[in-house]
Amino acid sequence: MIDSLVARTDLEALPMIKRGKVRDLYDAGNAYLIVSTDRLSAFDVVFNEPIPYKGVVLNMIAEYWFNQTKDFVPNHYLSTNIMEDLPQLYEHKRELHLRSMLVKKAQVLPFEFIVRGYLMGSAYKEYKKTGKIAGKDYGHGLVLGSKFGEPLFTPSTKAEVGHDVNVTYEYMSNELGTELSEKLRDLSLELFQFASREAMKKGLILVDTKFEFGTTEDGLILIDEVFTPDSSRYVLKSDYDVGFIDRSLDKQFVRDFVSSEGWNKEPPPPALPEDIVQKTSERYMYLMELLTGKDLQELMGNE
Ligand SMILES: Nc1ncnc2c1ncn2[C@@H]1O[C@H](COP(=O)(O)OP(=O)(O)OP(=O)(O)O)[C@@H](O)[C@H]1O
Ligand SMILES: [Mg+2]
Repeated sequence: MIDSLVARTDLEALPMIKRGKVRDLYDAGNAYLIVSTDRLSAFDVVFNEPIPYKGVVLNMIAEYWFNQTKDFVPNHYLSTNIMEDLPQLYEHKRELHLRSMLVKKAQVLPFEFIVRGYLMGSAYKEYKKTGKIAGKDYGHGLVLGSKFGEPLFTPSTKAEVGHDVNVTYEYMSNELGTELSEKLRDLSLELFQFASREAMKKGLILVDTKFEFGTTEDGLILIDEVFTPDSSRYVLKSDYDVGFIDRSLDKQFVRDFVSSEGWNKEPPPPALPEDIVQKTSERYMYLMELLTGKDLQELMGNE
């Protein structure tokens, strides 16, 4: 059995490195332990209501894609067999099981590597205001959900506090150097193209995504989470085709609810009603089933 709701963890057996908005990061000696909790953040604010099983979905989808993409680029994935690798955590089995991953320690590059196949989210907002995306002019012909001829690479800084800031490729290149930047851009685009094709086979459009990369003594690796519903937008192809272009399979119910409430996106966040929490949980689980072919019952059965 696992806990249906894990809002935070406090593992006294391991030193905590960071409590992120969603994930708790611990030092496990020669690795980090990343625990995906059920916290939900929207517009960079963490809500008070955890979303049942959300952390399981994040962890399982990340594991799935780390495995699928490992031939393109090495990544930080080591194991999700936490009880075997860290038996000292046995008393936390119910909260950690299916929600945690051991990963290689890396130096995090201070950028978010964002790829967009379709116009949505913050890029759509920027475009509506200025006609530009990541500093480049795109004229007036695009609408919400327009597909780009080729996916766009639109990096942002990884801000320690506050909101991340979109930057141009040239800015990133000045900071990281030409060679590394080209490699990161090409890898990001290649990963995105691959995952888009795979997702499409499952009836899903991968709208956009964010990667993080880090360096280790063995070189560049993909870190953090990959193609999860917290780092990516997925829309059902059947929805997109009939015009529900921004009905994404993630926290869309929450975004819609708080927007309708007129929340100014500054803390404290408004309380989420039970039905919004439930529907959001179902959305996350549905995406996990579509992508990985596994449902929660099956995962728990394999304990
Ligand atoms: N292999 C790794 N080595 C070092 N740090 C990592 C690794 N993988 C992920 N991280 C970091 O762990 C944290 C995960 O927590 P979470 O994503 O919840 O944080 P966050 O609030 O989004 O903060 P951030 O803006 O830094 O991502 C992130 O800061 C991420 O950069
Ligand atoms: Mg993060």
